[in-house]
This record gives sequence, structure tokens and C-alpha cells, in this order.
Amino acid sequence: MRTLKDLDARGKRVLVRVDYNVPLKDGAVQDETRIVESLPTLRHLLDQGASLVLLSHLGRPKGPDPKYSLAPVAEALAQHLPGVRFFPFAPGSEEAQAAVGGLKAGEVAVLENVRFEPGEEKNDPDLAARYAGLGEAFVLDAFGSAHRAHASVVGVARLVPSFAGFLMEKEVKALSRLLHNPEKPYAVVIGGAKVSDKIGVMENLLPRIDRLLIGGAMAFTFIKALGGEVGKSLVEEDRLALARDLLKRTEELGVKVHLPLDVVAAERIEPGVETKVFPADAIPVPYMGLDIGPRTQEAFREVLAGAKTTFWNGPMGVFEVPPFDEGTLAVGRALAALEGAFTVVGGGDSVAAVNRLGLKDRFSHVSTGGGASLEYLEKGTLPGIEVLE
Ligand code: 3PG
Repeated sequence: MRTLKDLDARGKRVLVRVDYNVPLKDGAVQDETRIVESLPTLRHLLDQGASLVLLSHLGRPKGPDPKYSLAPVAEALAQHLPGVRFFPFAPGSEEAQAAVGGLKAGEVAVLENVRFEPGEEKNDPDLAARYAGLGEAFVLDAFGSAHRAHASVVGVARLVPSFAGFLMEKEVKALSRLLHNPEKPYAVVIGGAKVSDKIGVMENLLPRIDRLLIGGAMAFTFIKALGGEVGKSLVEEDRLALARDLLKRTEELGVKVHLPLDVVAAERIEPGVETKVFPADAIPVPYMGLDIGPRTQEAFREVLAGAKTTFWNGPMGVFEVPPFDEGTLAVGRALAALEGAFTVVGGGDSVAAVNRLGLKDRFSHVSTGGGASLEYLEKGTLPGIEVLE
């Protein structure tokens, strides 16, 4: 990839695609990680004497919608950087072009949500050309969006000299270590609701890893595929054969699979609801498994001890409803405790667990990309990487 080392930004107006798709509540940013992670790139360009035009999406609006305005995000960014101004214009509009025309060195313009533009997700060439008019160089630092072949990610990159930002570089460097010559033993922890969401990444990682630990509701599809009784737990009935095939493949490759031994179950998903612990393959109706149980937490900890490379994606239970967050937190602690290992975590709930535990610094890399990190590990590249090569 061409990187910031290849860009002389002195006196230039630089267009930067960031991923400021951050959680908002009552008009305030709830988690600034993605904003903070973009600062090294922005500061580097500003220190060189550039002016900046920032593009980002926020949420999945169906056209212009004040609920998805980047105004609060620009306000949060302004707490970290001087010279930030929000221009409430769709980034492909004439108003946006006119507004950025007056920028001086050291100033930062944040334009409105790129998804307010109908051509953004279709990678419309006219829109990409209008974006290209906003800057003399383009820096892609939105790793979390690099799997989207949209106008503000790949379309514009084809039209102006384009470079990877520091966050983009950091992410690709860390994640590529999970694919190329990883140190062994190598353990992967996968969770979340659906096998179908994670099958691609599991298939690509299997030939590289030694241990696969499966939690979250997706474990029930595997347990049922093996003949277990899972009560009312979530199962993807149409993926049972796929689960069996995957298990067969792990045997062929000598990968040891660890499924939950026990689960914390309840009749309803409700905070503080009465819970019971059952063996994971003998859950009676009307119970459903909602988290890995204490024996599994301990077993997973033991399996992970001694690993030299780990990747974790996906919660072990219904993380957002306590007490079903405990298994996910336990996995976070077990991974954070590994000494001398290369540990990577990616994906909303697993990253949230690490942050809640205050253990972010104990990981080698915490990815800012959910879907992007999975797609990178599945395919070894992303549209946003290819366009910079
Ligand atoms: C994310 O949060 O994963 C990225 O910002 C991408 O968002 P999207 O899935 O709406 O494209």
C-alpha cells in the first residue's frame, strides 16, 4: 500500500476518509475509540501544514436524516484538535465544494454523512468525481469501512493520489500477522449468534490454527449437529450440515475444537432473570442457553494458556444483558492474562468487553473494524487495501 511516507502534504488540501461510525446517545458520542485512533494521521498531516476535509459515514440512513448527522462527532473531534469546523453539507454538494475552498493550513472541515448521498453505496462515478474535487490527495484511514467498495472508500481513491493512513497501516500489519507465519500454538475464539456470519473466517483460519474455541449462540448449532439437546436455544437449522462439515474439516486438519461444556440458561432474556446451569448438550425445554457456564470458562482459560497467537471475535453469550455477560468477560480476562502472546480482538461486543474490563492495553491489537477485520481474515485483502496498492 502507498502510505503517508509517500505523501508530501505541505500546503495541500487533503481529503481523509475516516470511520467515525461511533455509537451516539442523546446526541453525544458514547465511545470515542475510532475518533482517537484517527488522530495520529490527522495530526501528522496538520503538522506538515495541510488543511483537511474529513469524510465519514454514520449508521445506515436511507438518505438525509438529522438522526445520523455527523455534527456531534465533529464536536467530539474538536475536543482533541483545534481548527475543527462542521459544515452541514452533503459532501458531494456545491456548498461543500465552496466551503472547503476557503480552508487555511491547519483547519479541518468535517462534512455531513456520506450516506446522505444516494450514490455513495453504489460507488457512483459522478459522486466519486465530486469527492475528488474536495482535495488534492486522498488518505484512507477508515479501516472499519475498508470492506465497503463505496464512493468515499474506493471510488475517489482511483481519481486522486491516494495513501493509507496510520490506522489503516496498523490494522493491516496486525491482522496480517494472523494469516502469515503466526507463532504456534495458535488459538481462535469465535462467538456470536450465527455460524453463517463466521463461516468464511473460520474456513480461512482453520489450516493455520491449532485450537478453535466456539461460544455464543452459534455453539448450539454445532452441539445440535453432534446430537445434543439444546432446549429452546437459538439454532440455525439450515446450517446443521455446514456445522458438521466444518467439524469434519477440523479433524482432517488436526485442529482441536472446544465447544461449551456447560451453559447458563434461562426461560427469557431479561436482566436479573432466574438462571440455571445445564450441561451444554442436555438443556431441557423451556430453557435456552444464554452464556457459557463456569466449567466452560475454566476450560477455555486452560485451553488458552500457553497460546502464542490468539484471535477473538464475538461474544460468548447475550453480552448486553447481565448476567449473561460473564462468559464474555471471562474470556477477555483469560486472553489479557497471556504473557508473551500476540493477542488480537475484533468485533463490537468482544471489544466492548475488553474496554469494560479496562484491559485494552493488555492486548497486542484491538481492531477498530468489526466486519472489516473478519473480511480481511477471510480473504486476506479488502477493496480499500487493493485500491491503494
Ligand atoms: C462498522 O461499524 O463496522 C463500519 O463502520 C461499517 O459500517 P457498515 O456495516 O454500516 O458499512
